[in-house]
Amino acid sequence: MPKTEKRSMSWLLRYLKPVKGKLAVLLIMLLTSTGLQLLNPQIIRRFIDTAASGGILGDLVQLAGLFLLIAVSNQLITIAVSYLGNDVAWRATNRMRGDLLKHCLRLDMRFHNVKTPGEMIERVDGDVTSISNFFALFIVQVIGSFVLLAGILGFMFTINVPIALVMTVFTLLSILFMVVIRNLGVESSKNERAASASLFSLIEERIAGIEDVQANGHVPYVMNRFFRTMRTVFLKGRKAWMLRVIPWNTTVVMFIVSVTVVLLLGVHYYIEGAISFGTLFLIYQYSQMLNEPIELLGDQVQEFQKAKSGMLRSRELLSLRSEIQDGSEESLPDGPLGLEFNQVHFSYNEDKPVLQDITFVVKPGERLGIIGRTGSGKSSLSRVLLRLYNLDQGTIHIGGTDITKLSIQTLYRRVGMVTQDVQLFDGTLRDNLTLFNSEVSDAMIRQTTERLGLHHWIDTQPEGLDTHLTAGGSSLSAGEAQLFALTRVFLTEPSLVILDEPSSRLDAATENLLQSAIDELMKRSTGIIIAHRLATLEKVDKIMVLGGGRLLEFGSRVELANNPSSHYARLLVTGQEEELA
Ligand SMILES: Nc1ncnc2c1ncn2[C@@H]1O[C@H](COP(=O)(O)OP(=O)(O)OP(=O)(O)O)[C@@H](O)[C@H]1O
Ligand SMILES: [Mg+2]
Repeated sequence: MPKTEKRSMSWLLRYLKPVKGKLAVLLIMLLTSTGLQLLNPQIIRRFIDTAASGGILGDLVQLAGLFLLIAVSNQLITIAVSYLGNDVAWRATNRMRGDLLKHCLRLDMRFHNVKTPGEMIERVDGDVTSISNFFALFIVQVIGSFVLLAGILGFMFTINVPIALVMTVFTLLSILFMVVIRNLGVESSKNERAASASLFSLIEERIAGIEDVQANGHVPYVMNRFFRTMRTVFLKGRKAWMLRVIPWNTTVVMFIVSVTVVLLLGVHYYIEGAISFGTLFLIYQYSQMLNEPIELLGDQVQEFQKAKSGMLRSRELLSLRSEIQDGSEESLPDGPLGLEFNQVHFSYNEDKPVLQDITFVVKPGERLGIIGRTGSGKSSLSRVLLRLYNLDQGTIHIGGTDITKLSIQTLYRRVGMVTQDVQLFDGTLRDNLTLFNSEVSDAMIRQTTERLGLHHWIDTQPEGLDTHLTAGGSSLSAGEAQLFALTRVFLTEPSLVILDEPSSRLDAATENLLQSAIDELMKRSTGIIIAHRLATLEKVDKIMVLGGGRLLEFGSRVELANNPSSHYARLLVTGQEEELA
């Protein structure tokens, strides 16, 4: 076995360990069922021979009863085997799904930026499902099939050696054939999967952008793309199917030939008087029974190929390491936290610098307003501050500690951020405000929403805090979403708050509400406000102007306002808020 395959196998075995007791039961039941399957044709043989030689009726009834009992027990065991097989597979692969999802949630933003949600679903669920099918059926069918084949052939050798030899040759040829052609359909099956993944991602992307699709009359184009993608899925699927069917048909033909030979030989020995009629029937039954395990083995060869690619893809994903390394420092000074950027350089891709040589200090409790044109790097600055990305150069200190030394848990507990577009999750209003933290009481939510002015809005909702929100954010306006996010952050009582204002215009009433909410929030913490409106900056202590990722200006708001040559003063004079938007 090649090295990677060996490693994949030991990785799989790790997931099978917790279910090993069940696996043992499964195996015992399987062997019992195979034994019973082998026994029944023997009973029929006895039955036929007894009847043919004019045996006693009582014996016949007894044999018939035994046959029935064995057939029913076998059926019951088969049901139990399939139940247990699926149970084992689910338990083992659900842990795998859990591990994959947890791993993906910890991977850094650079990874997630290049992966579509459709692809991630495929990797966390699709790949594992193929492994799960394999788990559920492989153990049961492969072991069961081999035992059954060995049993049938073994019995046949005790009955008639030439016929047993024909059957053995057929079985060996079929298995050999399957081993030789096992990779025939793999490539086209992979293409088939890739085609359906692209169909999946097309639908996902267009449904996600449904508003724009509808508003821009984009529907006919989407349908056209859809049909073209469907066509590819069909063509690739047909090819993959053909390649899967050809080997199957070949074994069917081989099977028919071998059954014919076996029957001819059987009839020959019967006429010669070497075997009884019952034995002839037994030979017929056993030759029929050969086909099923061989077919199942063939199916499993395909399943194995699918599972193998799923396994490799999953392991590859699990071996990716987040570029963000957790730190160990857990203590930060109490109260508002100071912030210090020191010659920070940052880029998403190597070819385009986004932040260049940013150095500034914000003292504990101060408020900093950041302005700059769209794309100047304001949101990026807040992202590196929260360690969503690593810096290319330079350091950031919070409360005197380098953020790379700080445990991420501590960082997130003490620093709160309201992003430009607020995400809502499927759940009640309460869940969305507390982010599913049940320790936050309703009284606390009430107190906070009253202070921030959100309570009127909550009161107008049909079921108050129990109102159900849909995921995404479509159920709130931009202003409401910001108020909502402010409350969310407020409830965590952060010591440093970053507020990335939405660039959309809000009406005067909402803006006033938002402004007083921000004032409240900033009372107990250091604040960074990324502003798109000059009005938002009236109460900040310091102003930073960013341009093209560089720090164009940094200083006290009052001083900059009084210096007519400063960017900020010029903005105030012209009132050109578009400059900021
Ligand atoms: N995930 C990303 N991957 C690659 N480039 C990005 C990514 N996010 C932002 N950028 C680029 O980085 C630059 C700065 O973006 P950023 O979002 O920080 O701007 P901004 O100042 O917040 O703008 P706005 O005022 O519109 O919110 C832009 O040129 C943008 O194209
Ligand atoms: Mg931004």
